[in-house]
Amino acid sequence: MNVIVVKDRQEGGQRGYQIFQAAYDKGATVFGLATGSTPVTTYDAIVASDLDFSQMTSINLDEYVGLAPDHEQSYHYFMQHHLFNKKPFAHSYVPNGLNADAEDEMARYNQIIADNPIDLQILGLGQNGHIGFNEPGTDPKLGTHKVELTESTIQANARFFDNADEVPRYAYSMGIASIMKSHQILLEAFGEEKADAVKAMIEGPVTPDLPASYLQDHGNVTVILDEGSASKLS
Ligand code: F6R
Repeated sequence: MNVIVVKDRQEGGQRGYQIFQAAYDKGATVFGLATGSTPVTTYDAIVASDLDFSQMTSINLDEYVGLAPDHEQSYHYFMQHHLFNKKPFAHSYVPNGLNADAEDEMARYNQIIADNPIDLQILGLGQNGHIGFNEPGTDPKLGTHKVELTESTIQANARFFDNADEVPRYAYSMGIASIMKSHQILLEAFGEEKADAVKAMIEGPVTPDLPASYLQDHGNVTVILDEGSASKLS
């Protein structure tokens, strides 16, 4: 893993943007995208740039089961607001949280990923080491699947809802196997609350207990940290 430590998430966003732009300049056409607070500064930099996505494809990592695309906490809504309204792609795929048929949704999304191999995947990192919604213990061979969220993730995401009871209990997520097929991965993690997960991801053993540790086995990963998230690295 190529580890870059910057001062804060503002600088991290700029650095993330540079990596994104370098991939774009080299001909990347399919971008895997994440939601959450982490990639926002990178998306802001993309929005402020002159990059054109009108011939490009985006594929998001995950979506809550049960939330409509226009629900303010859905990941569809997040992507529209932070990126797609300002930088439209030719094709933007996000799992359909309203598809109650999980088998159908998993097959549909796996086909999308197979048809559009991801050139650059952006990832955030959960405090428990999750990537996408691949929680500790997830089988790394899984493709897109339906996930029951852990209590830790529900509590971490409750800040976006009126209270923890409103956080959906299930999500559709790309699997670790799907993520590992991406040609290049850019993981960003900011804030001291990520420091334990960052240390385990980079310095710990590769283990299902810390899903991001599988990235040690991927040959093209850049990790951008701020001083807080890097604070426990040796
Ligand atoms: C979001 C996602 C999650 C987040 C992670 C960190 O699409 O897949 O894995 O990246 O939960 O969330 P934030 O960035 O809000 O700290």
